[in-house]
Amino acid sequence: MTLTVKAKAQEAARFLRQLRPLRPRVAVILGSGLGAVAEEVREPLVVPYRDIPHFPLSTVEGHAGRLVAGLWNGQEVLIFQGRFHLYEGYSLAEVTFPVRLAQALGAEVLVVTNAAGGINPEFKPGDLMLITDHINFMGTNPLIGPNDPELGPRFPSLTPPYTPFLCDLARRAAEDLHLDLKEGVYIGVTGPSFETPAELKAFARLGADAVGMSTVPEVIVANHAGLKVLAFSVITNSARGEVEEVAQHRAVLDVAASSGPRLARLIGEVIARV
Ligand code: HPA
Repeated sequence: MTLTVKAKAQEAARFLRQLRPLRPRVAVILGSGLGAVAEEVREPLVVPYRDIPHFPLSTVEGHAGRLVAGLWNGQEVLIFQGRFHLYEGYSLAEVTFPVRLAQALGAEVLVVTNAAGGINPEFKPGDLMLITDHINFMGTNPLIGPNDPELGPRFPSLTPPYTPFLCDLARRAAEDLHLDLKEGVYIGVTGPSFETPAELKAFARLGADAVGMSTVPEVIVANHAGLKVLAFSVITNSARGEVEEVAQHRAVLDVAASSGPRLARLIGEVIARV
């Protein structure tokens, strides 16, 4: 018998609750190279993804593949350390399973992070960008197929996709921490090939400030699930279609890792205020 997404998420939630009576308010999905953000969690319950019923396994370099639950700045959080990408061959149901699990556990807020190429010429590697909107350029949508009205509406609104009061909270937190926080539009592509110069020039004209291979599916499902959403990119490389700036996975991970502590401080501050 094949289980529905809702049934799978509920089973996974039940499994976790029997390890500890979790009531997370905020769920966080960490992007490539950003695993260190989870080190902020106090009294962590660490569960490898492979132990959680129905959870896909993460394969890509730079992703630990475990869930960390605990307290962060007084807030009960659920951190997904390691995410799933379409380019690895996962279905969109698998890519977005962590969001359904967060929903099943009663989370109210989803924070998503990623590594991204900087299209905006003002951006440099290491910059943090608040995602204020996105362009779904993946050619698909995680909500395609029968809709379960208990999970969310058939035609959810994505205006706005990122919750304005959380964006404001992030801007104020960055200011108070004296952190430079850029803002912009994220364009999501499937990868795994990096973009051609012509694609990057086209994306700039479409209004994108950063490009990456994740986040859009999770954010669509989070909106469907009624979660409030906040998202950040770490700009790991410039992506303007110039031959001398060829994106490389290793460099992406290194830059993300060195920006991780700054992003952790920012998210920690937002979590303390939310
Ligand atoms: N393109 C797509 N995804 C990325 C990039 C890029 O340049 N950098 C980090 N993730």
